[in-house]
Amino acid sequence: MNKGKLYIETYGCQMNFSDSEIVASVLSDDYDVIDKATEADLILINTCSIREHAEQRVLNRLSELNALRKNNSRLQIGIIGCMAERIKEELFKTGSVDLVVGPDAYRSLPTLLKKESRVNINVLLSETETYDDIHPIRYDTNGISAFISIMRGCNNYCSYCVVPYTRGRERSRNPQTIINEALSLFEKGYREVTLLGQNVNSYCCDGVNFARLMKSVAEINPLLRIRFATSHPKDLSDELLEVMSSCSNICKSIHLPAQSGNDRVLKAMNRKYTRRWYLDRIASIRKYMPECSISTDFITGYCDETEEEHQDTLTLMQTVSFDYAYMFKYSEREGTRSANTKADTVPEEVKARRLTEIITLQQELSGKSNLKDVGKTMEVLAEGTSKRSEEHFFGRNSQNKVVVFPRGSCSKGEYVSVRITSCTSATLTGNLIDN
Ligand code: 5AD
Ligand code: SF4
Repeated sequence: MNKGKLYIETYGCQMNFSDSEIVASVLSDDYDVIDKATEADLILINTCSIREHAEQRVLNRLSELNALRKNNSRLQIGIIGCMAERIKEELFKTGSVDLVVGPDAYRSLPTLLKKESRVNINVLLSETETYDDIHPIRYDTNGISAFISIMRGCNNYCSYCVVPYTRGRERSRNPQTIINEALSLFEKGYREVTLLGQNVNSYCCDGVNFARLMKSVAEINPLLRIRFATSHPKDLSDELLEVMSSCSNICKSIHLPAQSGNDRVLKAMNRKYTRRWYLDRIASIRKYMPECSISTDFITGYCDETEEEHQDTLTLMQTVSFDYAYMFKYSEREGTRSANTKADTVPEEVKARRLTEIITLQQELSGKSNLKDVGKTMEVLAEGTSKRSEEHFFGRNSQNKVVVFPRGSCSKGEYVSVRITSCTSATLTGNLIDN
């Protein structure tokens, strides 16, 4: 039997990209993945609900993709992921979807696709599903770097966040299946894995915590680099920092979302730590690994955030001097504690101005951080041809900074020494050094 053609378009976080690889695997008996929507029999859009803007983008894209039905009456279009979970009825009503499937229901995709009904839906959340026996199909890969999901869901209920409602309860995947997956990737030539979870620091399965899991994955081979995302500051343990500092193949880079620099705002956000606690964690990171890069997330204009509270975010940024940050305007999400109990009163233009202020400051900090690297020689994992030219490669250093260099005779997947000669706030540029 000829297989159908599946086109997957993914929005949102790394976890969604990893889930799309699981979906490709679940459907692999019936479909091959292709990279052109116009040639597909089945289009799946893996969606994100974290901010209103993310949902709006998908709805616009959905109406664009619907136009393809004119030339292809057999085309099926499905919405999967967080929006499927959050706004199933609305999606139904658009009349433009054949399938609505939430993040814990991907195993049912083959059966749902064979049903005759007009719209098929499964948005059941699970307390146990980890897809631990599924071998993801890495259909869009550089062959060097891969994601491995180690847990699903979130129990933290930050007041602003929709994730606990769209992805359900937190559960950890069996450690041996994670180690096996990393080993098999290494044997296929991959040189970097990123362990993914909404809050990896609360990973716990069969008596194995996150620090022990990291150590076991790091022991697979010194040539396999390990990264992870995301950490919650309330759970970042010294035990993990010790493991990170003692294994040279665990990358010295931590993403530690702060969200705000003000204690009242942090409490209202239900983040369960204070500014002081956050700074203590930063001090601990620097004690164990002075060379570690630290990146973060901030939400600006949260509910009734005042100007002074906003200033506290700016001073936290200055104090820590983050290497990199993702910054967002607060977007109220229906059903969250913030939406139910607090008015979203910061005017849009004030949110926009505060966002510009933190972005401007972060550009300055990222620039300073990169400037400190000029003159240093560092190990870079070559990932592929740079956008700049065929003669240049790009890769990342342990700190997760992008480094561009003339490729010389180096090949993809090789570790090379690069001396940094110049930088922008986004990229380091350098030359290969003979080892
Ligand atoms: N509005 C704006 N940003 C949000 N984030 C999560 N929920 C919201 C929201 N309602 C941000 C947080 C989180 C990142 C993934 O997205 O900063 O760390
Ligand atoms: Fe959302 Fe907070 Fe969970 Fe992160 S830790 S997914 S911000 S609820």
